[in-house]
Amino acid sequence: MADKATLTIDGKSYEFPIITGTEKEQAIDIKTLRGATGGITTIDPGYKNTGSCESAITFLDGEKGILRYRGYSIEELAEKADFLETAYLLIFGELPTKQQLDKFHADIKSESHVDEDMKKILDGFPKSAHPMGVLSALTSALIAFNPSTVNVDSEEDMYAAIVKLLAKFPVLAAWAMRKKKSQPLDYGDNSLGYVENFHKMMFAKPNEEYKVDKAVIEAIDKLLILHADHEQNCSTSTVRIVGSSHAGLFASISAGISALWGPLHGGANQAVIEMLEAIKEDGGDTKKYMAKAKDKEDPFRLMGFGHRVYKNFDPRAKIIKVAADDVLTQLGIEDPVLDIAKGLEKEALEDPYFVDRKLYPNVDFYSGIIYRALDIPVEMFTVMFAVGRLPGWIAQWREMRLGKEPIGRPRQVYTGENLRSFKEVSER
Ligand code: ACO
Repeated sequence: MADKATLTIDGKSYEFPIITGTEKEQAIDIKTLRGATGGITTIDPGYKNTGSCESAITFLDGEKGILRYRGYSIEELAEKADFLETAYLLIFGELPTKQQLDKFHADIKSESHVDEDMKKILDGFPKSAHPMGVLSALTSALIAFNPSTVNVDSEEDMYAAIVKLLAKFPVLAAWAMRKKKSQPLDYGDNSLGYVENFHKMMFAKPNEEYKVDKAVIEAIDKLLILHADHEQNCSTSTVRIVGSSHAGLFASISAGISALWGPLHGGANQAVIEMLEAIKEDGGDTKKYMAKAKDKEDPFRLMGFGHRVYKNFDPRAKIIKVAADDVLTQLGIEDPVLDIAKGLEKEALEDPYFVDRKLYPNVDFYSGIIYRALDIPVEMFTVMFAVGRLPGWIAQWREMRLGKEPIGRPRQVYTGENLRSFKEVSER
């Protein structure tokens, strides 16, 4: 494997080291490029070819459809681990011992309340507010109620901030849904597991005993694990870049939530179900929508298809497809939308447009179907994604701060006007 790359500009050669990751991925280290060449930079809109950091958290191989957290395959974690264990693994690097896990859970429980004044902020939102906007704002508001700065050189401080956020985030997420539905807030029950407690805070009725099917909690747990990290995607890069200015953990995560909201990223799960419902309303003609997706004059895209890095298949989509089937069977639900989804998938996998462009169903193609079966409102789908992604964001923020990474500040190539003289308004 080469360990150096040579760049020649105007007959002058510059050498750059090539670094190799533990999975033999290679990258040209251009840290010295501008200095050596007297100011030449690189340009790579969308960062399709640019590594922003070295990271030991998540490995994915888009060609082979591999996804691993800290070296463990997503398939094995989805089958054997629970969400909190996965969160600990992502954030601290190793699977927790029984003692560590019990302590982690107990510490989270002891922080699983938010300041009552947060309710006043929640009350200020109109009912029509999207829960992602509410969640981002409330997460940011947590700073005001937990103002102490985190000393990143102190393991204790770091741990305390992480536990606080993991504990309070599901409360805010559940309350964002309650607000939308004009329902009284629920304070959870610390005798329950993390995911079950989150579910209770979303669904418990004040005048009824809270009961839930085990299959429901298992399905949510699995979905949260599958969403827990995905290396340097748009929202994670946002968390890292905001955090690189030494903005605090809560502020960085709040920014990540905003990034995740977009329909090209986490917002796709909502967009998928809305698309599938629209197709159903329109008579279920999947061929018509396939044609629209391929028509370059038509802005319509097949939501839930394609991925920036998976150019073979999304391993999470495979697991979720089976989980969607399982959950619907176990809960005895027949969903015509699932049939439309399967029909679209089959057609796309046989269609040269999708095959040539390596467009396969992504994680969000099936997650919405499960959420729908669990009575989770469509506007909450991306919030569910955020709850799942939280440990990944925290792990990446922690790694970035412990690694003493410099502030993120990309360059540009300026293409605007050259220097010109100001004209008085009467002369314009
Ligand atoms: N439907 C139809 N055509 C598509 C789709 C789609 N869903 N996705 C990509 N294409 C086409 C593009 O039009 C383009 O065609 P061209 O080469 O003829 O111009 C080609 O495939 C490449 O597409 P890009 O947009 O350049 O691919 P990129 O890697 O930049 O985008 C993305 C990836 C944003 C995910 C894109 O596939 C998309 O918009 N998909 C739908 C939204 C979606 O499901 N997002 C969720 C992503 S997963 C996640 O965030 C968890």
